[in-house]
Amino acid sequence: MSSTTTSTGAGLEGVIAGESEICFIDGYEGILSYRGYNIHTLAEHATFEEVIFLLWQGRLPRQSELDELKRELHASQAIPAEVAAFLGNAPAGALPMDVLRTAVSTLSLYDAEARDMAPEANHRKAVRLMAQTSTLVTTYHRLRTKQPVVTPDDSLSFAARFLYALTGQKPNEISEKAFDVALILHADHELNASTFAARVTAATLSDIYSAITSAIGALKGPLHGGANEDVIKMLLEVGEPDKAVERAQQMLARKAKIPGFGHRVYRTEDPRASHLRVLSEELGRRTGHVELFLMSRRVEETVKEAKKLNPNVDFYSASTYYSLGIPIDLFTPIFAVSRMSGWTAHVLEQYHNNRLIRPRAEYKGNADGMPWIAMGDR
Ligand SMILES: CC(C)(COP(=O)(O)OP(=O)(O)OC[C@H]1O[C@@H](n2cnc3c(N)ncnc32)[C@H](O)[C@@H]1OP(=O)(O)O)[C@@H](O)C(=O)NCCC(=O)NCCS
Repeated sequence: MSSTTTSTGAGLEGVIAGESEICFIDGYEGILSYRGYNIHTLAEHATFEEVIFLLWQGRLPRQSELDELKRELHASQAIPAEVAAFLGNAPAGALPMDVLRTAVSTLSLYDAEARDMAPEANHRKAVRLMAQTSTLVTTYHRLRTKQPVVTPDDSLSFAARFLYALTGQKPNEISEKAFDVALILHADHELNASTFAARVTAATLSDIYSAITSAIGALKGPLHGGANEDVIKMLLEVGEPDKAVERAQQMLARKAKIPGFGHRVYRTEDPRASHLRVLSEELGRRTGHVELFLMSRRVEETVKEAKKLNPNVDFYSASTYYSLGIPIDLFTPIFAVSRMSGWTAHVLEQYHNNRLIRPRAEYKGNADGMPWIAMGDR
């Protein structure tokens, strides 16, 4: 190894890869905070719109600032007709995450400020991305299910507007609050894989749409945001609480990864999972899906006992979303709707104090100087 490289563990485990003022995690104590505000405080008191402002601006909004952000989000939610046409023409059976990734990328073609790198223009694009990602997911779902696109109701909160646009029904207060808390819990998580991908792209001084497209591609994978869809598929296959222990044991015996468990950073309970466990039970009891919560508990106890692994954010969000009536293949796109707040905050922070992100690899290949072999001698 040359003197200019340092060996790291596989997957950059434990490596400090940059500085940020946005999100703090203590994986041993189970602490997560956004801009110094503990996640439990935010889940109890904040709205998702306040969290968006907090992540972007570093402080809580005053009332007039919150009103202005809501006004901006409402004013920005419409998507270009060309992008709506793309959503309507996506092939049947397309993966919603693939549609979302391509649609977000396509938005840039119709944004007159796409190439403007002034901080004010980038902030305006962050607002548009925040508002339009929600519209992309709900519009795509309405079109693919041959239902009319719902006319937005600007009197509703971000959370209620999303659920209304998706289902055509205004949510009750409990569903709205549960979804709002879920959005808050998923909003940011330091240098997770998708945020890191966004920052790497932004650090080349590429535009914010390109950075966010990178992030969506990373979020899609089953080791990251895709896990919530795998969790619900597993629970629905299991079918009843009595079979959950056996299924978990079988998976562990064949060394399969159980979706929704384990984490690169947390060595104790993920504080987001604590809230989602409660939401999963409350909503499950109200909507007739409590068996999903009961199965989840049995799986959790089994995995904890056998492997000392805790559930992560994806485990109880799966049954929570299911009880909210959200289609399974939209679970990961919904993660993107929320994480857009964190991704954009990180991209804006990266632009503010940029340096190209370009690490080194520890070279394990042939030594330099291999003799050339003529084609006929290989
Ligand atoms: C999140 C995750 C990718 C972290 O990966 P990582 O930090 O590289 O951890 P590793 O894969 O090296 O796992 C460490 C050990 O825990 C075990 N482990 C980790 N997650 C596990 C899971 N979900 N089910 C069963 N065993 C698991 C590994 O098998 C390994 O055990 P071993 O040391 O006996 O071989 C991983 O835990 C995982 O794949 N989880 C399931 C997918 C998921 O829920 N992703 C969402 C993350 S928020």
